[in-house]
Amino acid sequence: MIRFDKEHNIFYLSGPHYSYIMFVNEGGYLQGAYYGGKVDEDAQYILRNAKRYNFPAGDLNYEYQCDCVANELASYGRLDFHEPTVIVKRNDGARMSRFKYVSHSISEELPDMTGLPHIRRGGQTLSILLQDDFSDTRVQLNYIVLDDCDALVRNLEIINSGTEDMMLHKAFSYCLDFDDANFKLLKLEGEWLTERNMEITDIGHGITKIHSLRGKSSHQTSPFMGLLRPDCTEEAGECFGIGLLYSGCYSMTAEVSSHSRVRVQGGISELEFCWKLAAGEKFITPQTVFVYGSSGIGSMSRSFADFYRGYVIHPKWVYAKRPVVNNHWSVTEFQFTEKELLKIIDESAKLGIDMFVLDDAWFGRRYDEHSSLGDWYVNETKLKGGLNTLIDRCKQNGMKFGIWFEPEAISEDSDLYRAHPEYAIRKAGVEPTRSRYQLVLDFTKPEVVDCIFRQIDKILSDYDISYLKWDMNRDLSELYTDSLPAERQGEILHRYMLGVYELLDRLTQKHPDVLFEGCASGGGRFDGGMLYYCPQIQASDTNDPWQRGKNQYGSSVCYPLSAVSCHVSDREGCCQNRHFPMKTRCAISSIGTLGYEFDTRALTEEERQEVISRNAQWDELYRLINRGDLYRLMNPFETDMMAFLVVDKAKQNGYAVVECGKYTPNKYKLSLKFSGLQEDTVYEICELGIKATGRTLHRIGVELPRLHDYESYELHLKAVQ
Ligand code: GLA
Repeated sequence: MIRFDKEHNIFYLSGPHYSYIMFVNEGGYLQGAYYGGKVDEDAQYILRNAKRYNFPAGDLNYEYQCDCVANELASYGRLDFHEPTVIVKRNDGARMSRFKYVSHSISEELPDMTGLPHIRRGGQTLSILLQDDFSDTRVQLNYIVLDDCDALVRNLEIINSGTEDMMLHKAFSYCLDFDDANFKLLKLEGEWLTERNMEITDIGHGITKIHSLRGKSSHQTSPFMGLLRPDCTEEAGECFGIGLLYSGCYSMTAEVSSHSRVRVQGGISELEFCWKLAAGEKFITPQTVFVYGSSGIGSMSRSFADFYRGYVIHPKWVYAKRPVVNNHWSVTEFQFTEKELLKIIDESAKLGIDMFVLDDAWFGRRYDEHSSLGDWYVNETKLKGGLNTLIDRCKQNGMKFGIWFEPEAISEDSDLYRAHPEYAIRKAGVEPTRSRYQLVLDFTKPEVVDCIFRQIDKILSDYDISYLKWDMNRDLSELYTDSLPAERQGEILHRYMLGVYELLDRLTQKHPDVLFEGCASGGGRFDGGMLYYCPQIQASDTNDPWQRGKNQYGSSVCYPLSAVSCHVSDREGCCQNRHFPMKTRCAISSIGTLGYEFDTRALTEEERQEVISRNAQWDELYRLINRGDLYRLMNPFETDMMAFLVVDKAKQNGYAVVECGKYTPNKYKLSLKFSGLQEDTVYEICELGIKATGRTLHRIGVELPRLHDYESYELHLKAVQ
């Protein structure tokens, strides 16, 4: 709901459990007033307190207080000494700005998001137009309220309404001030193989910044920030989550001022950023979602999941059964023969697997990491029958076929590079860094995007392909493009991202029946932007069930379970060399989108039976995972155990997975307390032969048998009365 109180110039925005209030002050400037649990629309008295922070135009006596004003768009060079939201440099070099309210509109229309991922449907949109006091710059702030979800979507547009060019030097998507700084910060940090660990820290004075300068959202950080009230736990207390729908270099800051207030801002990374805005042009910033958690981090996570499922992920895929894949990568890496792959297909079919995925090294003359990225034609020396031999074998087995691409990469040893060295991002005279022996394509150039589009489109059109794994295996460096003049080199990173989005957009539009899965050396580009095109993203290159389970736990803070693609791998688990029972490997992969990456030949009969029954069970279980609500019951970042419970929206069925990371002697009483159940409903837990109400199962919990290192337990709950 959006309502404008005309008499007092107050905007009331509200969702199921939150209110967001702003007003236009006496000076004509937009001020934030409140964001938190739902209140009534009778808060006009707040203007009395707010007045002392007003800065009527021209009254310099007031202006020293700008630092305390809750701003929806922080200005630059005008006595607000927080970091600004946008910096606009005019032709004469002047950069000061202060944006005054001009007008607003409330509509059912979605704002223009051309070129960027965005929510597919909305509720009401409030657009507030502001005008700079000192230049011909206008900014439109967009707020989209979703009636069924505690998510508020924001972005802004910067408009050059003058007759001269101007240069943007910063273009964040949002600014929000809280009246106090009584928060802890929740971040998701990590590395390759250990992405998205939950980290909760104090928030001190000064600026805390989460960012990526790697050309992609990265393994190291996730474009997410949580603000938790000090008493906020998994199940209780107030919290706020902010997520960017953007996959490139980004910054998110929390700045605590000397007045002990916190301002959060974020968007495209400002480092080295610039953008030429010609007269009449506008710059659209990425959308950001603000999620309000009224009862703990868990409630925030469930709203994030509802938001991505209901508004961002393509409706065709969001609740559909995704194919259970077997990908041969960790079994063969580059060294495979057609014969071996055919065998894997046959064996996979016997296990009830839905799809075979042909990973890296099917194209060009690729036999190892050194060559052929960019040459997207089938290597018929390796695959003598082309792709059709494999595809036909899949079909004979009632399976589908998927394929791997790394569309943004180019090898110097490739036909594409020999013909077009200028297609790679590099600067003449500077030795480029080679990461995995490869360079990155210059997607700021439309002809490069076209060239890759044509090649991938041809493969998808010529063959019966149902799934595409979109990989991206290095960070961007030595940034330079000859497509832009010297003063506009700061546009590269965002233009690169726009090129990636354009390619994704064209391919997904043209091939709507192909399921796209994101990947970047595992989980190096796992963000709300990619989810718009790819309903699922590979969680990590590690398939170690404890390590990847932690990744799944962290990812679930702000992404739905079904977005997290989780493969069951070989006994050792990729890269960690630990032995896990097949049961644990399967159980933990079932808290996500289930898939496999294992050597079918190496399975024991017991393991085969486990996989077969798992796949049969998944035909039903996926519904709960895709649609249900997640309750995190044991936190692996705090204990040696992790536990997840997924409950359907009607609270009739539940599925819990408990995993033990490390067994501690003498501590074998393991009780599991269930959240998320209906208090008065009686549930049966088949595995334990227990029947009790949700209230009892929550307060007393159940005692589980002792679990040793890497063992797991699964429980199915069913409402019986
Ligand atoms: C990356 C991916 C892997 C695999 C390889 C292929 O590392 O994360 O899953 O596709 O590339 O080279």
